Amino acid sequence: MSEARLLDGKALASALHARVHDAVQVVKSQHHLTPGLAVVLVGEHPASQVYVRTKSARCREAGMASFVHRLPADVREQDLLTLIRGLNRNDDVHGILVQLPLPDHIAEHRVLDAIDPDKDVDGFHVLNAGRLLTGVPGALTPCTPVGCLLLIQSAVTELAGLRAVVVGRSNIVGKPMALLLLQQDCTVTIAHSRTRDLADQCRQADILVAAVGRPQMIGGDWIKPGAIVVDVGINRIDGSDGKTRLVGDVDFAAARTVAGAITPVPGGVGPMTVASLLRNTLIAACRQRRLEAPGL
Ligand code: GUN
Repeated sequence: MSEARLLDGKALASALHARVHDAVQVVKSQHHLTPGLAVVLVGEHPASQVYVRTKSARCREAGMASFVHRLPADVREQDLLTLIRGLNRNDDVHGILVQLPLPDHIAEHRVLDAIDPDKDVDGFHVLNAGRLLTGVPGALTPCTPVGCLLLIQSAVTELAGLRAVVVGRSNIVGKPMALLLLQQDCTVTIAHSRTRDLADQCRQADILVAAVGRPQMIGGDWIKPGAIVVDVGINRIDGSDGKTRLVGDVDFAAARTVAGAITPVPGGVGPMTVASLLRNTLIAACRQRRLEAPGL
């Protein structure tokens, strides 16, 4: 039985990280610009704490400045907005990221739209979402979908005309992912929990992106032979050995025998998300200083 090619997100992210690092050295030495990323964490969501630590560490490794703001879970929305407005005015901060999810008493859209669109390295502000939708150049684009696209492009250079199915319709992954694939001239379907015949839809996909947050929901028999499979899911489940382990939304072992290329979990999409964030921060910093953004 043939096995799918593994799309190694760790290796691809490490190469992108190195390019960002080198470009940071150039803007530092030639323009006295140290790109800075501010990350805001509200509450103590365990996974978010890990993500924020990782983002901050990678940022410093790339030679950028990292500012982490931790706020209590019961912080008032007004106080969070005040912090964001301060970061908008702070010239040392070129990128602002508010880690999601936020506690229920805070209106996510008000917080995201308070971020200066030029510093919106998550690409979640309506202006950047609208730019992506309409194809206006200059959108800061959400990091996970950008990372997924880079992984897909590492497997296939010509995407035009391919049939892509994105399972999941979130603003963070599903919708922007679909738009990026559409920009590449794919024929795109967004499927979700209410889609009829979901398995049949998936079986049509030359490119299948799974972002539903349900452990191993997508079985091997949902996959078109030779398809490119990108698994955005990160789910912790109980293993047979009594320990927990991380799995994606795709049944990796089964899918690997059918797909042409597939991302592992962990070590697939996750590292690419962080590397794309560093890239966005560098691009945002260069734009704010009216410097040509380096080709990354
Ligand atoms: N929570 C899960 N993914 C993301 C992301 O890409 N950005 C932010 N800000 N929060 C998240």
